[in-house]
Amino acid sequence: MNRAREINYLNSIALHQPFGIVGVSGETGIGKTTVLNFVNPEGVFTVRVNISLRDSMESILYDLLHSLALSLEKVEEVSDLAKEVRKWITDEVSTIKGFSLGVSFGVNASLTHEKSIRPRFNFFKAREKLGELIKQTVQRKGKFLLIIDELDKEKKEDVLRVIDSIKNFIIMEDFVVILSLPFSIYREYAADRLRWNEAGNLENIFTDIVFVEPLKKLEIKELIIKRLGSYIELIEDGVLDIVADFSDGNPRDGLWILTKAIYDNIHKELLSKEDLINTINRTISEYTGLTLNLTENQKKAIRVLRGSVYSREKIIETLQKEGFKRTTAYSVMDQLLQKRILLVEKEGYRISGKFSYMEI
Ligand SMILES: Nc1ncnc2c1ncn2[C@@H]1O[C@H](COP(=O)(O)OP(=O)(O)OP(=O)(O)O)[C@@H](O)[C@H]1O
Ligand SMILES: [Mg+2]
Repeated sequence: MNRAREINYLNSIALHQPFGIVGVSGETGIGKTTVLNFVNPEGVFTVRVNISLRDSMESILYDLLHSLALSLEKVEEVSDLAKEVRKWITDEVSTIKGFSLGVSFGVNASLTHEKSIRPRFNFFKAREKLGELIKQTVQRKGKFLLIIDELDKEKKEDVLRVIDSIKNFIIMEDFVVILSLPFSIYREYAADRLRWNEAGNLENIFTDIVFVEPLKKLEIKELIIKRLGSYIELIEDGVLDIVADFSDGNPRDGLWILTKAIYDNIHKELLSKEDLINTINRTISEYTGLTLNLTENQKKAIRVLRGSVYSREKIIETLQKEGFKRTTAYSVMDQLLQKRILLVEKEGYRISGKFSYMEI
């Protein structure tokens, strides 16, 4: 499996770290959920939860507590406490919902100040209950790994605030949390472990953050071949290379464009390279037309640079040779970086494969 390194690493953290919070980060569709699904350390009591509510910091904590309690209800040793906790949350939430409904039913400005105080999520009690539930689980089940997915969909600040404010309640011996994180948090963590909001820094919160990197071109091709099974016969030679270039190492992007091309050409017996390139062209021009608004200079730079890997200096030099002024070359490079059309990779700078085959 192409993610064996990440999976083994997370398994051994769960086994050997006495406690801690570990993040799994990477851009959307890169394979975080896939990696988390394979984490399964032997002999460690493991619970997986998804966070699906996404409106506020309170609701993230409530949702976490609710999902955990729901899972633990099925575990004999802690079932009673889990049921009690879940009942508490359900009651809290219905009180708050009931109140907001009341408000929409003709409550008017004549309401006294006192009456208009809304019931609020009890964040403090919720995190105490979370701590208690975890503590009992550890006491009864031994080493405990909690895997939280989908936190990556939340806003960065909310995620950090929640984790920071509950960390003292959940950092305890024999308890490890692995959670998916927005890409932006990793960027911040990696960029010299910046301070966050004076309240603490990321280094203080996370034991480690595992970065799920883009896959290699060959790995993308392999996973698509596996996914296609015998349908691979319906695809012309060379199509997969284009898909892999387009994906920039992101499996979801690769699967997405190939599926689109297949549906665009559903009546054909064989999907050709030209068919795929047509789909790419249509998709990307729609996308660039709507959101990227490329200038003539940017388009020219894309045409000149695509297909190779460069150092910073080499980009400027190449653009200058094509008639760009030095200062223009620098600013176009920055614009393309900002638009994430020019990607920074280990080997150097590269125009995204999304633009490799497009008429521009
Ligand atoms: N290593 C892999 N091998 C095969 N398929 C993969 C692999 N990684 C990801 N995929 C496929 O790519 C798609 C996206 O993967 P996944 O959902 O794990 O990404 P993610 O990072 O969790 O995305 P999101 O940011 O939306 O949560 C899925 O269809 C998944 O099956
Ligand atoms: Mg995911």
